[in-house]
Amino acid sequence: MLCILFLSLLTASVIADEKVSSLPRLSDVEAAEAFIEAAEVVVIGFFQGEDSFGYKEFLTSASEVSPLPVALCMEKEVWAKYSVTSDTISIFRKADLHQENLELSRAKKLESDGLTRFFQINELRYITEYNPVTAVGLFNSEVKTHLLLFINRGSTDFAVLKERLGALAPEYTGQFLFVLVNGGLKSNDRSLGYFGLKSRDLPKVGIYDGNLDRKWLLPPGEISTERVREFCQSFLNGTLQTDVFVE
Ligand SMILES: *[C@@H]1O[C@H](CO)[C@@H](O)[C@H](O)[C@H]1NC(C)=O
Repeated sequence: MLCILFLSLLTASVIADEKVSSLPRLSDVEAAEAFIEAAEVVVIGFFQGEDSFGYKEFLTSASEVSPLPVALCMEKEVWAKYSVTSDTISIFRKADLHQENLELSRAKKLESDGLTRFFQINELRYITEYNPVTAVGLFNSEVKTHLLLFINRGSTDFAVLKERLGALAPEYTGQFLFVLVNGGLKSNDRSLGYFGLKSRDLPKVGIYDGNLDRKWLLPPGEISTERVREFCQSFLNGTLQTDVFVE
């Protein structure tokens, strides 16, 4: 009995060690820059050491949020580069060029579930699927204008249009967040309704201006890269035609 217990403890510690060693360690600024550059969203845990508050929870969440790339960094030179002064978990993302910090000294209570949620809320991509969790991250972003693709998951053009708009999104970093709203979900009825849409009307493209609480729909026709680009440009230069404004 004792022997079995000992064995299982041994296995547990081996698994924990594997988790630690599987996380890349960023040892200089160059490595950190390359790590951040390589994906749309990455997480870096800046920890003083393995005894730091939140370190264990961080490792647990890190293994749960795969395929989100996660790394560890204990090098002060890198901390300085990213304005980190105490143990901090940071999310770096390209869609709005943002570094979201969770300073551990300010966290009263830390659980790996809460951390996992923090990652999911802030996982904004070049095109982010709208749901109650990402909604929090989307509305917290400094970028208040959304380019929306309303489309039913499972429709024939779903993959093509998602890919097409996702490829356009980098041109509008810091100006628009590109958001996919699955019209097949009951929970998205309100978002569709806000644009006067029903699931059967999709696919459609719209712009939501969160600063002015205004909205526009791309006029009927093909959802081509060129047409969506012009739609975005017209919004930005203030010439978006009012005849496509829904109210
Ligand atoms: C605004 O952008 C649209 C779309 O690209 C373009 O057709 C129009 O000429 C632009 N207007 C101005 C004033 O820049």
